[in-house]
Amino acid sequence: MSKNETELGLPIEYQQLPEFFDAHNVNEKTEATNELLATLLKEQQVKMVLDMTCGTGSQVFFLHERGYEIIGSDFSPALLEIARAKAKQLNRDIIFIDGDIRSVKVGVFDAVITIFNAIGHLTKTDFEKALKNIRANLKDNGIYIFDIFNQQAITDEIIDSFSMQVESTINGVKVHNVQYSEIDRKNNFLISHEQYEIIKEKAEPETHTNSFSLQIYTAEELQKILNSNGFEIVSLYDMDGNIFQAEKSLNILIVAKQTKVIT
Ligand SMILES: C[S@@+](CC[C@H](N)C(=O)[O-])C[C@H]1O[C@@H](n2cnc3c(N)ncnc32)[C@H](O)[C@@H]1O
Repeated sequence: MSKNETELGLPIEYQQLPEFFDAHNVNEKTEATNELLATLLKEQQVKMVLDMTCGTGSQVFFLHERGYEIIGSDFSPALLEIARAKAKQLNRDIIFIDGDIRSVKVGVFDAVITIFNAIGHLTKTDFEKALKNIRANLKDNGIYIFDIFNQQAITDEIIDSFSMQVESTINGVKVHNVQYSEIDRKNNFLISHEQYEIIKEKAEPETHTNSFSLQIYTAEELQKILNSNGFEIVSLYDMDGNIFQAEKSLNILIVAKQTKVIT
């Protein structure tokens, strides 16, 4: 397996079609999520942050603007290239590092973040590897903030509501994107199937199809995994910053703190 493959597959915009990543991933809720993240980091008196799944830099640019010392890392060279181009265009001196969350060593930070269901791309075994490596990049009592879909709240109706069909024009190119999801309740995988039809002037339409899975969790299961890997939960929210409700909140946003040393 090459370094940026996973057993669960990945969305097509992470490698083959990175120019469509922002159009697909950045939406009207992004600003509010980043604002909530900034509030949670401030509450924990964090100054230096490592975003270990930074993508094109949504959280990195937002937090840098707020005065945080922040470095972004990710294992998608194509998304990092976009992040670096944005930094250059905005005249921001920000470091973006090519690295896998399971192994990259960047430094010693007050906090690590992985936002927008990023750890869903890891198998449970790989999530535990990632937690060990997150510890290696954190100071004593460092903070780890992440979000993930809440298995308990994902009903069949919610799965159906994830279906989408969007026609858009991105950088002058017409794009028709169709996506639908299903759930494997035995393994707790949220499986998505996507198709992109790209219509460029004076060229035959291109069609790309792809499937990938996200590992989803209950809050109780996450608590056990965090505890056995040297973290304790400080607080649990939904993505609007409300107190987490196991049966209702679609996502789990966790603030965890590094605790004991693992041998
Ligand atoms: C949904 S995107 C979120 C990106 C960014 N945080 C945002 O909100 O726009 C998930 C990111 O996780 C990254 N990722 C997935 N598995 C990874 C791994 N094993 N190591 C590093 N990055 C990984 C992907 O390349 C992608 O950039």
